[in-house]
Amino acid sequence: MKENIIKHHYVISQSERRELMEQNSFLLWFTGLSGSGKSTIANALEHKLHHEGYKTYALDGDNIRKGINNDLDFSPEGRKENIRRIAEVSHLLIDAGIIVLAAFVSPYKKDRENIANIVGNDNFVEIFVNTSLEECEKRDVKGLYKKARAGEIKDFTGVNAPYEVPDAADVEVITDDLTIDESVEKIYNAIKQKLKI
Ligand code: ADX
Repeated sequence: MKENIIKHHYVISQSERRELMEQNSFLLWFTGLSGSGKSTIANALEHKLHHEGYKTYALDGDNIRKGINNDLDFSPEGRKENIRRIAEVSHLLIDAGIIVLAAFVSPYKKDRENIANIVGNDNFVEIFVNTSLEECEKRDVKGLYKKARAGEIKDFTGVNAPYEVPDAADVEVITDDLTIDESVEKIYNAIKQKLKI
C-alpha cells in the first residue's frame, strides 16, 4: 500500500511561509511529571510570545487526549503513539510557520528522541520542567496522585510507571527554585536568537 503513495510537491515552501510570518518556526517541547507545571509555564510563555507578535499554537496532553488521541491509554505503547502523533502534528504546524508549544509528560527517552527525528533536530527544543515528585504529589491539583497511591490508576508516572529524566535538555527549569515568571524568562532567553529568521 505504502509504495503506491507518492509525495506531491507544493510550490509554496516552508521558508516562504516563515518569511510571510516574519518568524522562524520550531517546537518547544515541555517534559516533566504530571503536575510539574509544564502547562502553566507553556501557557505563560505563549502569552509573552503572542503579545510580542509571534504566531504560536499550544498542544497539551490533557486536551489532546480528549480529542485526536482519545483512543490511547497510558501503557508504554499508548504513550509512544501519543507522542508520535503529536510530533507529526507539530511537524505540520512547524511547516506552516507556527511556533509550537507542547506540554506532555513524555516519560520515555526513546519517545522524546523520536520527536527530534520527526521534526528535525534544529526544530526541537527540549525543556525539562524539573519538579520533584514530592512537590507534585504535595500539590496534587487534579487529585490523581492520591488516586494512584490508592491503586485506582495503573501506569501512573512517578508512582507505578517510570519517568526517565532527560540527560541533556536544552533548557531545564527547576521549579522548586524559580517562580513561573523566572522560568518563562529563562526559556525565553534560551530561544530568543531562534525566534527571528
Ligand atoms: S504522556 O505520558 O503520554 O506524555 P500526557 O502528557 O499525554 O502523557 O498526559 C498526561 C496527563 O494525563 C497527566 O497530566 C494527568 O493529568 C493525566 N493522567 C491520567 N492518567 C495518567 C497516568 N497513568 N500517567 C500519567 N498521567 C496520567
